[in-house]
Amino acid sequence: MSSTKATAPGKIILFGEHAVVYGRPAIAAPLMHVRAQATVQTNEERGIRLFAPDLGREYWLKDARKKDPLAKAVNLILAELNLSKTPNLAVTVRSAIPIASGLGSGAATAAAVIRATYNHLSEQGPVSDATVSSLTYQVERILHGTPSGIDNTVVAFERPIFFVRQEPENRIEILDLTSPIHLLIADTGVVSKTKIVVGDVRRQWEQKKDECERLFDHCGEVARRARPAIELGDTRRLGQLMSENQSYLRQLTVSSPELETLITAAEKSGALGAKLSGAGRGGNMIALVTEGNASEVRNGLLTAGALGVLESVIG
Ligand code: PMV
Repeated sequence: MSSTKATAPGKIILFGEHAVVYGRPAIAAPLMHVRAQATVQTNEERGIRLFAPDLGREYWLKDARKKDPLAKAVNLILAELNLSKTPNLAVTVRSAIPIASGLGSGAATAAAVIRATYNHLSEQGPVSDATVSSLTYQVERILHGTPSGIDNTVVAFERPIFFVRQEPENRIEILDLTSPIHLLIADTGVVSKTKIVVGDVRRQWEQKKDECERLFDHCGEVARRARPAIELGDTRRLGQLMSENQSYLRQLTVSSPELETLITAAEKSGALGAKLSGAGRGGNMIALVTEGNASEVRNGLLTAGALGVLESVIG
């Protein structure tokens, strides 16, 4: 039986989460070694069987709920390829990316399924990154409501990006780093759903538009200033900007006591800067470190209660 595999990385947002939903620039990077994987096999049984062993789930596509993200990803490909007959397939998805923790697990899972399913069924060669991104966006919409588009872009292109949500087309610029940057990613262990936090920010924005717009402007300005610092490897500046971004996120009320504890611990043990990453209120934080102090900061984070600490080199 022929089979096709594809993977997609997790992601972190370095600058500009939340403000990016309101048209301000943001910077994100893939987590190349933490990935989701999809396998698509031609099956003998009739129909499309979906397997998500990490969630202990197995079901037929035709029986899936309307808002099931795995089913949505597969259905998008069937529509995209305009197949006259439903193929007989087994689609299996696994992920090493923790869910609901700001690391883009939903987007990565969708992107892996979209890439594997398309490449398995297409007679026109492999799917483009741009198509993976736009179809993943459509899956993200059922998970998140009003996604900015940054998650699907970074997991499809697998490169650090400068991103602005805008019409008629998002601005997407791949960043080339002169020297790699070292990050630690620490898990608060608190599960936080992006849709809920994004909805809360929306309510705040409706009630206090001027104040929220001012904070979004600050976040956007920080992302704009961070871009040359990332490209030139100016880590001191980058660290300061991360801490500045965190102060605006705090004012937006998307931080949490657990995130603050880890951010303080990282800074005290020598990180150049630290902030939450993604929707906030839980999930993961990121700390900018050097090769020299990474293990000290890691110990500081674990002592302060981090559930786990990943290391990532961007660039
Ligand atoms: O929590 P995550 O990893 O899905 O990141 C959400 C980022 C937000 O800016 C809060 C929302 C968005 O769609 O960009």
